[in-house]
Amino acid sequence: MIKIINICGARPNFMKIAPLMRAYRNHGNIDPVLVHTGQHYDERMSDLFFRQLDIPEPDLNLEVGSGSHAKQTAEIMTRFEQVVNDHEPDWVLVVGDVNSTIACALVASKLHVRVAHVEAGLRSFDRHMPEEINRVLTDSISDLLFVTEPSGLENLKNEGVAPEKVHFVGNVMIDTLRANREKAEQSSILANLGLERGGYNVATLHRPSNVDDPETLGRILTAFEAIEADLPIVFPMHPRTRNNLTKLGVADRVAALKNLRIIEPLGYLDFLKLTANAAVVLTDSGGIQEETTILGVWCLTLRENTERPVTMTEGTNRLVGTDSTRIIEAYRACRAARLDAPPVPEKWDGRAAERIAEILSGC
Ligand code: UD1
Repeated sequence: MIKIINICGARPNFMKIAPLMRAYRNHGNIDPVLVHTGQHYDERMSDLFFRQLDIPEPDLNLEVGSGSHAKQTAEIMTRFEQVVNDHEPDWVLVVGDVNSTIACALVASKLHVRVAHVEAGLRSFDRHMPEEINRVLTDSISDLLFVTEPSGLENLKNEGVAPEKVHFVGNVMIDTLRANREKAEQSSILANLGLERGGYNVATLHRPSNVDDPETLGRILTAFEAIEADLPIVFPMHPRTRNNLTKLGVADRVAALKNLRIIEPLGYLDFLKLTANAAVVLTDSGGIQEETTILGVWCLTLRENTERPVTMTEGTNRLVGTDSTRIIEAYRACRAARLDAPPVPEKWDGRAAERIAEILSGC
C-alpha cells in the first residue's frame, strides 16, 4: 500500500483536492489520508466546499487559524510534524501555493518523506507575492512535480529540476469545474440577486498588494465607479478585504457605489454559476483566471503579472494592473468586443487527477 497524506488548508485548495480524493478510489494500492490545516475555517471559506464538492471529512484538522505568515506557517509545521511521525506516510501531497503548501512540504522533506506538488512550476517572478515564495520553495524540495501548463515545464527546466520528476498532467481545478458545471446550473444565485445572464460584472479582490494598500484600493475603486455606471458589479467579498474597508477608511466610498453589490463569500456552485454568466470578471485571484478561460468569460486581472500565462495566450484573461484608466479602457474594450470561444489549454480536459493518481500508484 502507498500511504499518501493529502494537504488542504485554504479555499483554493479544496477544489484541487476534491478530484484527487475521487481518483484515488480507482487505485486499490493507494491509502489516502486527508489533512486540513485549518488555515481557512469560516463555514463559507471551508465546510461549504467540502459538502458541495463531496470531499470526504478530513481525517485530521490541525485547526491553526489565522496569524502572521511566520506564526501561521510555524504553527502548521509544528502540528503537522506530529502527524507525519504518527502516520509514517510514503508521500505527502500538497497543492497550490498557500502557506499550508510550503509548511507541510517542508516538514515532510525534513522527515525524509517524499513530497508531491500539484500545480508545480507556476511563476509570477514577483517575489513580493507570498505565494511566489511558497511556489519556488515547495518546488525546490518536491520529488514529484505535477504541472498544469507549458510555462511550468519551462520554469522548472530553467531552475534545473530533474526532468524525470516533472509530469505535465493538466489542471485539477478544471477537473472540478468540468465535473460541476451541470450541477452549478441548478444554483438559484442569479434569481436570488435579481440578475440576468450578461447583465452584470463580478469582482473579487483579496491580494494584500491590492487590498492592504489604500492608494491601490483607491485606484481600483475609481475604476469601479466608471464600470458600475455601465453594469452592476457583484462582489463576493473575502473576509480579509471586508476587514480592510474600515481599517483603510474607504468604507464610505464603497457604500456610495450604489451599483456595487457586496455579498458574502459564495460556495463553489453559486460562484461558478455567477461567473459563467457574467459580462466581465475583474479579479486578482489565480484560479479565477483559469476558470474564466474555460467558461469563455472575459477576465481582467488586476495585477501586474500572472503566474498563469496560458490564460492570456489561449484564454480570456487580460492583465490590466491597478491603474484606473487602464482598467476602465480594458473593460470598455471587452464590452465592445465579441468573445469567440477560446482554444482550451492542453490537457485541461477534466482528467488531470486521474493522471496524477495513475503516476502515484506506480511510485
Ligand atoms: C490565502 C492564501 C492565498 C489564497 C487565498 C484564497 C497564503 C499566503 N495566502 O490568503 O494565496 O489566494 O488564501 O482565499 O496562504 N479569514 C477569515 N476567515 C477564514 C480565513 C481567513 O476571516 O476562514 C481572514 C482573517 O482575518 C485572516 C485573513 O482573512 O487573517 C487572511 O487569511 P489568510 O489565510 O492568512 O490569507 P488569505 O488572504 O485568505
